[in-house]
Amino acid sequence: MSTAHESTDVITPEALQALPQPLETKGDWDHVFSYHPMDRVLERAEGIYLYDDQGQRYIDASGGPFVMNLPHNHPRMKAAITDQLERFAYPHPTMANPERARYGKMLAEILPGTLNTSYLVSGGSEAVETAFKLARQAQIARGFPDKFKIISHRDSYHGMTLAALAASHNPVSQRHFVPMIQQWPNVRQYSDFDRPDGVSREDWGVQCAQALEEVIHYQGPRSVAAFIATRHGSGPDYATVPPVSYWKTIRDICDRYNVLLIADEVVTGFGRTGRWFGMEHFDVEPDIMTLGKGISSGYIPFAAVAITDALKATFTDTNTGFVHGFTMGGHGLACAAGKEVIRIIQDENLLENCRTQSERLFSYRDQLMAHPTVADVRGWGLYMVAEVVRDKNTMEFFEPDQNAERLFQGIALKNGLALYGTLYGPRRQAAFRRGIPIWISPPLTITTEQVDDLMARLLDTFSEWEQKVLS
Ligand SMILES: Cc1ncc(COP(=O)(O)O)c(C=O)c1O
Repeated sequence: MSTAHESTDVITPEALQALPQPLETKGDWDHVFSYHPMDRVLERAEGIYLYDDQGQRYIDASGGPFVMNLPHNHPRMKAAITDQLERFAYPHPTMANPERARYGKMLAEILPGTLNTSYLVSGGSEAVETAFKLARQAQIARGFPDKFKIISHRDSYHGMTLAALAASHNPVSQRHFVPMIQQWPNVRQYSDFDRPDGVSREDWGVQCAQALEEVIHYQGPRSVAAFIATRHGSGPDYATVPPVSYWKTIRDICDRYNVLLIADEVVTGFGRTGRWFGMEHFDVEPDIMTLGKGISSGYIPFAAVAITDALKATFTDTNTGFVHGFTMGGHGLACAAGKEVIRIIQDENLLENCRTQSERLFSYRDQLMAHPTVADVRGWGLYMVAEVVRDKNTMEFFEPDQNAERLFQGIALKNGLALYGTLYGPRRQAAFRRGIPIWISPPLTITTEQVDDLMARLLDTFSEWEQKVLS
């Protein structure tokens, strides 16, 4: 494959030294707590590109942390936010905020099924907390005051606040906070890595989902309020898309035991998978849906929780008020940004472009898999994960002192790619006998030429990196 940029055949120590390094927290940076970027300073961003203060251009290959469903610096986004700013930014709580109503109506029009009502917050973790409190209050209102437990997938990710952390069941991010968080039950995810030979994905989907029934059974159905999960896998199985049978079986089990199903669509919402929401691929309606990231495409902090008509009726029929609230929820600028995101996705046919460019992106699967360190390539829409290992046979990752992730990111930046996956380096622990995800999730406006350019740079990055870390 020919590439549009220069790449070195051998990484000399001098060339390594010249690679981007982690930011040294000196000078002004000394006043910024717990910050882990590389030493490239962002100056401006346009379309799918980021520009540093030296004029170097980088493809935003992961859309930040899968947040940029729209491109950077979209003129309509700027106009929508500034128009609202001319009228009001912060809506006074004692006066009706028409932006909240307008946004809620637009959102209901694109949400599947009867998810017609939303509660607005400012970030994905807040949305998850809100969903848990909604589930608990709904169960009380329905006459089940003993239902309080939230079941979730082992080694998943639902955010960093204490309840979201509890539901994430990740030993690395929980480790200091164990005494402070709820010890809720967890259940396995769908995985193709332990699917027995001769068992179809559909059958395995049913079997994996049945693990939920077992956990509910042993916890006592009287105590379980809700089950939360992302549409695709997390942790080592990041971006593994389960078969339809998985979600249909989960829905059946939840119905059988009066457990509310919470779909965490913080990552998969707003077109990322080629449809408005990931759950639409499975024709299964959750009771509660959490939304974030792409909801405002990173233009302003915003998130939401959508509930079904039936769940809303639980509150209205029993005259139960929802005991909750955040100062910034329903902010005028966030609603304006959210409305324009929906309009732009519609006007620019971005769901269709996502599906078209997805085919192009995944056409590189074999070339990626030909690399000795790529154990798997999976995902959907414009969301691709390459699972990276040291050895495909043992499925082990590199030793921490090899700084393999940091080196990968440095070479990627040198090759004009800004990736999110490797930014996780300082905090992340390689899963036992599984790899680390490299995420590719560019803005949904990406063109075929840009996909080709991105992938050429990524393939070169793998080659250069392997020469260094496998030698
Ligand atoms: C699936 C999922 N849920 C919730 C969150 C939390 O969102 P935030 O970081 O906006 O609090 C994230 C963040 O990455 C996420 O991936």
